[in-house]
Amino acid sequence: MKQVVADAAIRDVKSGMILGLGSGSTAALMIKSLADEIRQGKLKNITGVATSFQSEVLALELNIPLIDLSSVSQIDLAIDGADEVDPGFQLIKGGGACHVREKLVASKADQFLIVVDETKLVQNLNRSFPLPVEVLPNAWKQVQEVISEMNGSCSLRMATKKAGPVVTDQGNLVLDVLFDDGIKNPKDIEMAINNIPGVLENGLFVDLTDKVLVGKIENNMPVIYSPSRAS
Ligand code: 5RP
Repeated sequence: MKQVVADAAIRDVKSGMILGLGSGSTAALMIKSLADEIRQGKLKNITGVATSFQSEVLALELNIPLIDLSSVSQIDLAIDGADEVDPGFQLIKGGGACHVREKLVASKADQFLIVVDETKLVQNLNRSFPLPVEVLPNAWKQVQEVISEMNGSCSLRMATKKAGPVVTDQGNLVLDVLFDDGIKNPKDIEMAINNIPGVLENGLFVDLTDKVLVGKIENNMPVIYSPSRAS
């Protein structure tokens, strides 16, 4: 499903574009499909802007030319995965702890395209997937206390195959936050959390998404569809 939706996303790419390259397993498949199209000469003069160390390494391995985010004034199209998508196309991202650069790239993009499988569609955000919040290392306790007062329970994200916490591409830590009642007002929560001293960015992507491509299995076959945004 992820492969089919990743391939479908490439149909929105045109030669000459500056492309935001997302992070995570679905975005990685999209980057591989993009590299195939470039290798076959179907897409020319593509420049990528990486959203993470993961997408940077992959693009370099696959010979996709990269440019630094700070060197571009505008990105034509950014393609990325998501952890939760609500009917109004508000998102939770950051399952791979890359949401700081992902949001910078999405904010600079003329078009922001999300590629997900059907399991990522939810009616209400944060009922099951915790909201990632990137914090300065020496601020995590202090931020946790403030978020607790907002009825959010935080856990410091721990690494696998490394002792201690996950350290982000920027050298920070991640708190995963579940609110008692989920998130009903993403815009307010995004601002309130980013206003806490020590917070770099949170994984709520509000009013950024232009299009969502969803992959699902129907009659044992992968099917792609693009839902309309609910107002
Ligand atoms: C990384 C992200 C990813 O896009 C998100 O976690 C989805 O990943 P996957 O496609 O592996 O399910 O936001 O920070």
